[in-house]
Amino acid sequence: MKVLVIGATGHIGTYLVPRLLARGHEVVALSRGQRQPYSTTPAWENVETIHLDRKEEEGKGTFGKAVAEIGAEVVIDLILFKTASLPQLVDALAGKVRLFIFCGTMWVYGPTEKAPTSEKDPRLATADYGRQKAQIEEELISAALAGGFPATVLHPGHIVGPGWLPIGPAGNLNLSVFEKLGRGEEVCLPDQGLATLHHVHADDVAQAFELALAKPRASIGESFNVVSPEALTLRGFCRAVAGWLGREPVLSYLPWPDWRKTVSEEDAEITWEHIHHCPCGSIEKARKVLGYSPRYTSLEAVREALDWLIRHGKVNLPPLS
Ligand SMILES: NC(=O)c1ccc[n+]([C@@H]2O[C@H](COP(=O)([O-])OP(=O)(O)OC[C@H]3O[C@@H](n4cnc5c(N)ncnc54)[C@H](OP(=O)(O)O)[C@@H]3O)[C@@H](O)[C@H]2O)c1
Repeated sequence: MKVLVIGATGHIGTYLVPRLLARGHEVVALSRGQRQPYSTTPAWENVETIHLDRKEEEGKGTFGKAVAEIGAEVVIDLILFKTASLPQLVDALAGKVRLFIFCGTMWVYGPTEKAPTSEKDPRLATADYGRQKAQIEEELISAALAGGFPATVLHPGHIVGPGWLPIGPAGNLNLSVFEKLGRGEEVCLPDQGLATLHHVHADDVAQAFELALAKPRASIGESFNVVSPEALTLRGFCRAVAGWLGREPVLSYLPWPDWRKTVSEEDAEITWEHIHHCPCGSIEKARKVLGYSPRYTSLEAVREALDWLIRHGKVNLPPLS
């Protein structure tokens, strides 16, 4: 089938495009052409690339038409963030695609009320990003159930892989926490360090997209969480990372209002975003309906990412493997 991936050269696309090619699909990769995939295989030479700026085209009202003209049977949209972006896409693609797969997020659920969170749980997003993703999901699923538009929605957790920064044991992107744990130095965590993070390896996200595409009858009109088998607490995350370097974690704790003063504004903001949500998703539906079988636990995914960062001189610790 001819499959268009919108936003094809980022974290997910790096793994998804080769998977689609291996399944025998004809792949069209749409991006602005500013980024390269994190890793490439010779198979990427068989990908048709289309460079255009979605924002610009949307502003002119021509994005939907440009996408429809590509003539793909399946459209995978990895960079749909705004409800305002939806109508021109749906209008242009209705009746022309067999499947439209939208990349949502675990943030649609808002701060966790039931763990693990399942797709049946309410969408209680508190911030604009999650709210807009939830609204897009609602509109797509309603359209699919009404028979008007064949949409499927996937909700990844924190996407991890070699080549970029993972959300770390303090719930932010500051790499010094890994170094402190690896050297046996004290790490201070907010509250009791019991907030959860739910990572997923980018290749497992790609796997879920590939499965949703392969099983349209099962996936159309449905949403699926796409995370690793288990969430991690900040404490547990620290223990594991220290253990990779043969250490015991040395942890201390401060209430959030005090803790936030110990880090930069930016780190505090990212940590707050994560500990406020405490994501912990169930993958039972994706397992049962799609056959999703993540290859990586959260820790395996982060370990691979950390090893890459060490080997590329971004984290000053001995290699892990
Ligand atoms: N990161 C996470 O932990 C996380 C967690 C949950 C859900 N998600 C969801 O994952 C999706 C993002 O996937 P990703 O992490 O693979 O993306 P990514 O790594 O940020 O890559 C974005 C891709 O889109 C292209 N792009 C960016 N702006 C564009 C524009 N204006 N016009 C055309 N192409 C554009 C980029 O290439 P160019 O720059 O060359 O254009 C690149 O190919 C989002 O829907 C997000 O909500 C992410």
